Amino acid sequence: MLHPHVRPRRLRSTPAMRRLVAETRLHPAELILPMFIREGAGGPVPVGSMPGVVQHSLDSFRAALHEAAAAGIGGVNLFGVPEVHDAIGSGATDENGILNVATRIAREEVGDALVIQTDLCLDEFTDHGHCGVLAADGSVDNDATLVRYAEMALAQASAGAHLVAPSGMMDGQVAVIREALDENGFHDTGILAYSAKYASAFYGPFREAVDSQLKGDRRSYQQDPANRREGLREATLDLAEGADIVMVKPAMAYLDVLADVAAVSDVPVWAYQVSGEYAMVEAAAAHGWIDRDRAILETLTGIRRAGADAVLTYWAVEVATRLLGRS
Ligand code: PBG
Repeated sequence: MLHPHVRPRRLRSTPAMRRLVAETRLHPAELILPMFIREGAGGPVPVGSMPGVVQHSLDSFRAALHEAAAAGIGGVNLFGVPEVHDAIGSGATDENGILNVATRIAREEVGDALVIQTDLCLDEFTDHGHCGVLAADGSVDNDATLVRYAEMALAQASAGAHLVAPSGMMDGQVAVIREALDENGFHDTGILAYSAKYASAFYGPFREAVDSQLKGDRRSYQQDPANRREGLREATLDLAEGADIVMVKPAMAYLDVLADVAAVSDVPVWAYQVSGEYAMVEAAAAHGWIDRDRAILETLTGIRRAGADAVLTYWAVEVATRLLGRS
């Protein structure tokens, strides 16, 4: 009989052995919860395409913040769902706009116990649903949008955001935001740059979650899924412009880009496990087609293994609670 000389299976023999040799671990501190706060909501409103996710009222938001802090997650990433939309997304820069109100509440409720992050993008606030303001011909005007982003950064920093998170894929957005923050004394407000963000079908459920007004698509500013090198280029530009953290989004279909960025970045690299990634697992599990709990951990482990230091995931609190129960 032939006896192999090398036996990798030895290190897989018992749960204790597997735990000891695991190359990748999940920890609550590396999980970030995206949250939706809906203006005027009387209570939490379920998002149909994302079972278990809600648009929060201010009251349910307060409670959820404390739950998130108790679970020991790293932070929360806030999205506003305004009642009124207009061409320039006025609600985004209004100090009484829902996202800025929610940011102040978050700081009041949990202070510095969680890292409070704000989506810095106009799409939730515009009546055309695009991430920027439009030129006369209907195209998204990059440089006019930068002016709005600078204003938005100041509104969010004033409201207490620890990290502002530009997600609109305008050229030069990180530099403009850094300059606006620094000129106004917000030296300590960081920038979480959505650096390599692809035009993805996996954002579908999110569009329901924020009542998106978009008709058409974002392919003239978000990246083409076909391009790997370009993802690295975008991240490199954001690093040069002063990003404190760079992010790749979506996660699972872009693990090669994530690994590329992680190989060169000298700042933390995060990934966003987006709404469609969440919905896919929940839908398959609801049919009994996959083991939900295992699948969730496997997706997050894969994203961490590919190079993400932290992950935005709608399962953040659930997974953190599970991890705490185990340790
Ligand atoms: C833009 C933004 C989007 C997401 C996060 N920030 C939508 C988009 O770019 O179309 C998607 C997140 C998700 O799908 O979970 N404000």
